[in-house]
Amino acid sequence: MGLIVGNWKMNTTVTSAIMLANAVKVQIEGQFGPEVVVCPPYVSLYSVSETLRGSRISVGAQNMHSETNNGAFTGEISAEMLAQICQYVIVGHSERRTYFSETDLFINLKLLAALSAGITPILCVGEKREDRDSGRAHDIVSSQLDANLNGMDLDSKIVVAYEPVWAIGTGQSASPEIAQDMMFHIREILADLLGNQSEAIPLLYGGSVNEDNIGVYVSQADIDGALVGGASLNAGAFCRLIANASRTER
Ligand code: 13P
Repeated sequence: MGLIVGNWKMNTTVTSAIMLANAVKVQIEGQFGPEVVVCPPYVSLYSVSETLRGSRISVGAQNMHSETNNGAFTGEISAEMLAQICQYVIVGHSERRTYFSETDLFINLKLLAALSAGITPILCVGEKREDRDSGRAHDIVSSQLDANLNGMDLDSKIVVAYEPVWAIGTGQSASPEIAQDMMFHIREILADLLGNQSEAIPLLYGGSVNEDNIGVYVSQADIDGALVGGASLNAGAFCRLIANASRTER
């Protein structure tokens, strides 16, 4: 069974987030298919989690702080706060690495804090255009995984998303061959780091995924689902994407 995650990024108001969540819930109700997660902005997390209560859709946050003690961190949200309302949290998204200068160490601390609060981290890794062009894509992803998973218990429940930065929001999705090649590499690294447990880790592809191309990704040997940005903001398009993912699952 696959996993489709919608990352709403900095979109929707509380009102439109509830409407979007409800529309997705109604449209996929009673259907058999992949596990579905939506990640609204913080301010809508509670309302969306209430809207989706009892449905087959889980809720994720888009970010969190690594600090485990409550205290003087103005504007920050801890894993403990998230644990009451979500099951997942995205860590290490390239937009946070790039625009907010998040380091591998910081991302590692977030991942460990999420796990100790009982939330499943969705760890994002991926190379920039210049890394791919210079033949360093595999090395970049290896070093991100090495650093970001440091100190993790071998049997922790995590999800890994490969999102090549050049494919995000550009309409230039990675070819299925490029995506599969990197997923195979990620599987090998995870096996090295975590042993047999790594086989249970879902691997998602992200970067300009839509209802038309989802099928080719989920039919690849090492791709278990997708992390979807733009195409998760329209309930109809997102639900068709989910339906197409289940139709073509390997
Ligand atoms: P797009 O699907 O809009 O390319 O975004 C991908 C992404 O960054 C999901 O986290």
